Amino acid sequence: MTIEEPGRVAVKGRTFSVQYSLPKLPVPALEQTLNRYLDTCRPLLDDEQFKTTSEIVQKFKEKEGPELQKLLEERATQHTNWLSDWWKSVAYLDSRLPVVVVNPGFYMPRQSFRGKQEQIDFTARMIAGLLDYKIMLDEQTLPVDTMGGKPLCMVQHYQLLNACRIPGLKKDTHVHIPPTDSNQPRHITLIHNNHIFSMDVYGSQGKPLSISQLRAQLQACVDQSKVPAAPVGILTTMDRSSWGKAYHDMFNVGEDGYVSANYEHTTAEGPPVIGIMDHILNFLEKHKEPWLGAPDVQPPKRLNFNLSEKVKQTMSRGLEDIESNVQDTMIRALFFKDYGKNFIKTAKMSPDAYIQVAYQLAYYRIYKQPCATYESGSLRRFQLGRTDTIRSCSSASLAFTEAMDDPAVAPAVKVDLLRKAVQSHRQYTDYTVNGQAVDRHLLGLKLTALEYGRDIPELFMDLAFKESTHFRLSTSQVASQHEAFLCFVPVVPDGYGLCYNPREEQLIVCITSFNNSPETNSEKLMASLTQSFRDMQKLLASQMQAKL
Ligand code: COA
Repeated sequence: MTIEEPGRVAVKGRTFSVQYSLPKLPVPALEQTLNRYLDTCRPLLDDEQFKTTSEIVQKFKEKEGPELQKLLEERATQHTNWLSDWWKSVAYLDSRLPVVVVNPGFYMPRQSFRGKQEQIDFTARMIAGLLDYKIMLDEQTLPVDTMGGKPLCMVQHYQLLNACRIPGLKKDTHVHIPPTDSNQPRHITLIHNNHIFSMDVYGSQGKPLSISQLRAQLQACVDQSKVPAAPVGILTTMDRSSWGKAYHDMFNVGEDGYVSANYEHTTAEGPPVIGIMDHILNFLEKHKEPWLGAPDVQPPKRLNFNLSEKVKQTMSRGLEDIESNVQDTMIRALFFKDYGKNFIKTAKMSPDAYIQVAYQLAYYRIYKQPCATYESGSLRRFQLGRTDTIRSCSSASLAFTEAMDDPAVAPAVKVDLLRKAVQSHRQYTDYTVNGQAVDRHLLGLKLTALEYGRDIPELFMDLAFKESTHFRLSTSQVASQHEAFLCFVPVVPDGYGLCYNPREEQLIVCITSFNNSPETNSEKLMASLTQSFRDMQKLLASQMQAKL
């Protein structure tokens, strides 16, 4: 049983109370998407190129577009969500890149441990916090998320736990065991000193272990792993085909021992993941011993791997690869404390849109040109909805960034341009969260052409398409109640990844770039962004003063 099959859901509770009344993801009108596509290409192209692109788009509108649109609309009638299966494959499972590079990581506020016992104690309480969250999921008491007052699809929460991604030679698979399955997993995978344990966190009758029982389980793992073992886990950090091959080889030797990543992106975006983290952090603050514990605890089992020479060689390569990936990534976190969302709201602007405009200014100040920018916009108002792209770079944002440092432009005009840029961004956000953005629709039309053996239309080969999807800024808001943040790497070699947590009185932005690229530098962008946040506030403050 899966949640995708409404008729067969056995347990109905609060979490899924509105799931099946959520609308289906629409297929936007062809003409609307093409017009919006042209609008978003405009700031990235010169007049000549824009003219060429406009002609190509017109040709597509008259030639291949209508047939592909019709086929896509047909697909939409046959699926709960016309995009979700395609997206899972194209965006995640088909990718051969190491998950340690492409998956987001999250950063919790730093803990300070005085010795191993405190570390074990914290880990036990953290696991208890996760179990507390899982109880809410199993009992379906997790409240329905909302955005702008509208309920959201809850499937992402549901598929995060009891799940793992299995490497394949050409494509991975994602396995999830739903709560209605009678054979529920009771363990977590624990790694200490490279030893891998299957550690039960539920008793055999299904009761969660108490914090003191979890502590004892962890201690038993630590006691059995004082000397480091061969780093089998390194295999999971490799490119997916190499890991798929090694996984296959190890399975031949009859051993079963895969390790799942902390945050596997295939099934969920950052917000549900940070939701778990917030729950755990809140739990850590409040609870000492929330339940009695289980009467029947199985001790942890260390997994022994039969490692052939071939697998050992692959592991050595894995160690080299991960080291080179680590060396190649520059991660910087900006904790900007001058102001947060509250100030931006007081200035009567959308905080998210304002931050996005600040990114445009920070980038423009370094490179003296705009760049295609991706912001994740949620599609969770729709059943099985994931994300679409908010194209943050607009003609309005370019007009503001060009004017901001021009002494010939009066401050009042700059404020006006800033407000227009913010409004334009907010409008595109509204298009996106209502299923009316450009990128997933165009992807759907392209995949339809491929599925039906048609030629790839010229629109997808055009320089404008390449330029407007070469997202040098890849950005995403993942808000947390705590001083925490998510991070992810750039999506292009010469780009940046920006993941941000706008808090009431503080803006946290994690910036990543690749050291291999001579063009990018997280520190430089961080400095430019800090200055841009400050200058935008100063500009607004000066105008507020002028009005007094
Ligand atoms: N004046 C005053 N306040 C305003 C305002 C204005 N002009 N415009 C917006 N606000 C307020 C909003 O009412 C809201 O108030 P709240 O904090 O009480 O809820 C707040 O400012 C935030 O709104 P805004 O900054 O406009 O953003 P948002 O909350 O609508 O979020 C997205 C925008 C794009 C981040 C969101 O729609 C989304 O899609 N989130 C998911 C992203 C995702 O999936 N990321 C992970 C990918 S791995």
